[in-house]
Amino acid sequence: MPEEYRPAVTVVDDAPAASRAAAAIIADVVRDDPRALLGLATGGTMIPVYAELAAIVARGELSLAQVASFNLDEYVGLPPDHPQSYRAFMEAHLAGPAGMDPARIEIPSGMAPDPQAEADRYEALLAARGPVALQLLGLGGNGHIGFNEPGSAIDSRTRVVTLDPRTVADNARFFGQGEEVPHQAISMGVATILSARRILLVATGAGKAGAVRAMLEGPVGPDCPASFLRRHPSVQVILDEAAAAGLTQRE
Ligand code: GLP
Repeated sequence: MPEEYRPAVTVVDDAPAASRAAAAIIADVVRDDPRALLGLATGGTMIPVYAELAAIVARGELSLAQVASFNLDEYVGLPPDHPQSYRAFMEAHLAGPAGMDPARIEIPSGMAPDPQAEADRYEALLAARGPVALQLLGLGGNGHIGFNEPGSAIDSRTRVVTLDPRTVADNARFFGQGEEVPHQAISMGVATILSARRILLVATGAGKAGAVRAMLEGPVGPDCPASFLRRHPSVQVILDEAAAAGLTQRE
């Protein structure tokens, strides 16, 4: 049997407190190594986390100017200047407000003519530049990490993935009415994510409670890809009370 570890779980009152806690951890990593390589995530959960980080930078307590990052994923078919592309998300929420150098933010290209070749290029670039010091993760309502949907294998690497119907529906809120939500993405694989030195997952809101419980208390397996985090020795999970509501074992 492969070893199973217990993530360090912190439960705070609400999403703003979770965001402050996550931003403080990221800031500490960068203070230790101003040129740290970070693994970064997108999604609604990250917006207040990055806003907190930008506030720390604005107070003069931190600089992100030298850090480099690899994002988890990008939609296939969205150009970088599409407002819902993850490239645009990073520029709007992190590069601009928190002073990160956009040239140091790596994101798969959603417009590559051969998306799988782009996925292979991205995986190789990360392998050459890594390991990531801290990988930040959100959590899909169906237990996905990055865009590793249920069914993803523990040894998966960066690849083209087809989004689960629930993910397409969940992410439709970010797109305009009648605008088509992409059905495919290029995503780091589970093994790619697990190659980080340290992992920090943030989940807030009642919509995540089922996935949080499956991640921490369900079987480790592809039905809940986030459960594979229990195969990594250094995982921190920050939850608000609503996301933690389904847990039966709380310290
Ligand atoms: C998205 C992203 C994930 C993100 C998750 C949760 O689809 N690919 O990286 O963590 O789903 O998103 P949100 O924070 O908006 O709930």
